[in-house]
Amino acid sequence: MSSSPVSSLPLITAKMGKVHKGNSDAKDKKTEFSLVRVKSTWKSKLGKKINKDVVDCVSAAKIYESITDRGTSWTVVSPITFTYKVTETYGLLDPSNDTLLLGHITDPQQLEDIKTSNKPIRRFVVIEQEVFQIYGAKLTEYLEANDVVYKILALPTTEENKSMETALKILDDVNNFALDRRTEPIIAIGGGVCLDIVGLAASLYRRRTPYIRVPTTLLSYIDASVGAKTGVNFANCKNKLGAYIPPAAAFLDLSFIQTVPRRHISNGLAEMLKMALMKHRGLFELLEEHGCMLLDTKFQVDNTLYGHSSIKAASQATRIAITTMLEELAPNLWEDDLNRLVDFGHLISPALEMKVLPSLLHGEAVNIDMSYMVYVSHESGLLTEEEKQRIISCMVGLELPVWHEEFTMELIQKSLQDRLKHSGGLVRMPLPAGLGQADIFNNTSFDILHRAYIKWNEELSVSSDSTCDV
Ligand SMILES: NC(=O)c1ccc[n+]([C@@H]2O[C@H](COP(=O)([O-])OP(=O)(O)OC[C@H]3O[C@@H](n4cnc5c(N)ncnc54)[C@H](O)[C@@H]3O)[C@@H](O)[C@H]2O)c1
Ligand SMILES: [Zn+2]
Repeated sequence: MSSSPVSSLPLITAKMGKVHKGNSDAKDKKTEFSLVRVKSTWKSKLGKKINKDVVDCVSAAKIYESITDRGTSWTVVSPITFTYKVTETYGLLDPSNDTLLLGHITDPQQLEDIKTSNKPIRRFVVIEQEVFQIYGAKLTEYLEANDVVYKILALPTTEENKSMETALKILDDVNNFALDRRTEPIIAIGGGVCLDIVGLAASLYRRRTPYIRVPTTLLSYIDASVGAKTGVNFANCKNKLGAYIPPAAAFLDLSFIQTVPRRHISNGLAEMLKMALMKHRGLFELLEEHGCMLLDTKFQVDNTLYGHSSIKAASQATRIAITTMLEELAPNLWEDDLNRLVDFGHLISPALEMKVLPSLLHGEAVNIDMSYMVYVSHESGLLTEEEKQRIISCMVGLELPVWHEEFTMELIQKSLQDRLKHSGGLVRMPLPAGLGQADIFNNTSFDILHRAYIKWNEELSVSSDSTCDV
């Protein structure tokens, strides 16, 4: 086995809130200042001792002043905390459920003030056009019943128009609505494309306007809603412009999933399988056993064929997918640490997805990448033949493609070379090592990659006829 885990390598990540000493000149004199507020004025304070009786507030921020022969330099360390909620709820558009309007508010006093005020609530809502066709009447009824002053902007947000132009169109309308950024979060309702564009628009408006995510596809339910990333495509690259600004809250209601086309349920299941393979054997076994039922029932209660077990499996699967994703994202919200298990299936797939756009959905391209990587794991001695077969069978059971003719050795090599460039000189390849466990590897040889490719082609190219029901 020529792969080695990175755990033995020195960490090269930059942690927020720490000052990096670098190649400091021996003559550098660095002085630490705390920041205290006295009445309305912030002042720098030398030394660690602060008399709390005479200051109103001590900031967590610090200023470090350094004087060298070349001049003076100030380093500001200002810790920023992001707080956001991911809430699963039922009946989000039921007029008696106030989650959509007030669920993001964490301060009880503020909540009380809003509830007792006679000022109407104002909300700007961006909703994906197809979703508006299905849920528009219910949404309007909900807003009317709660006396909300609102504007609904229904947009065809597709991967092809996931662009800055669409973000600017949204911002024009937000501006015309004269939105108050302190009290009126923008609401985004739709799949991952809609949520990503609105998130970016909100993070630009008045430098950062809070926004709320309501995912309506399975993929956005367990993935795009959970993290902090926003973005649009640019220069023919996926999500090249974007920001790491989490929403004020994400409100998740499984009932939206009932109208999602079957192929898009499989698409979301691919990202769920990713978390299962990387972190959770139980989730893998659940998908292996109940994948077909989840596809048939679209994560809803099904009283005909499957009874109550359908909703039990659905809520278990979404819950594990969300918590495993949050575990990986919360400590690395800005992706400073480049060793990320959530990158599994995302090393070669972006190039494949863009190359064949729009024929493969995101999760489908990810699955093809994961399927090949399973062969790399097997060739590296990390998965047994039986484990490899079980994973591929599970993928086929979820009606996901496991092979694609455009996924060539050339594409693999080019993508891994690009990754080396953008990942600090290491390939950082997440690979399953047993079922539901993984590690990150930097030294997988060309020989292993090539042998895996040959076997992958031999064994899977015949099954290239996807069983997806489009
Ligand atoms: N921000 C993140 O962390 C993150 C994570 C994963 C993916 N993404 C992004 O998400 C996007 C993919 O998201 P997606 O798979 O949701 O695609 P999508 O937003 O294109 O939606 C897929 C399709 O489903 C339809 N649809 C949505 N909800 C529906 C409903 N309830 N009923 C019927 N039809 C419905 C839409 O009209 C659309 O045609 C990609 O652009 C990807 O980059 C972002
Ligand atoms: Zn993805």
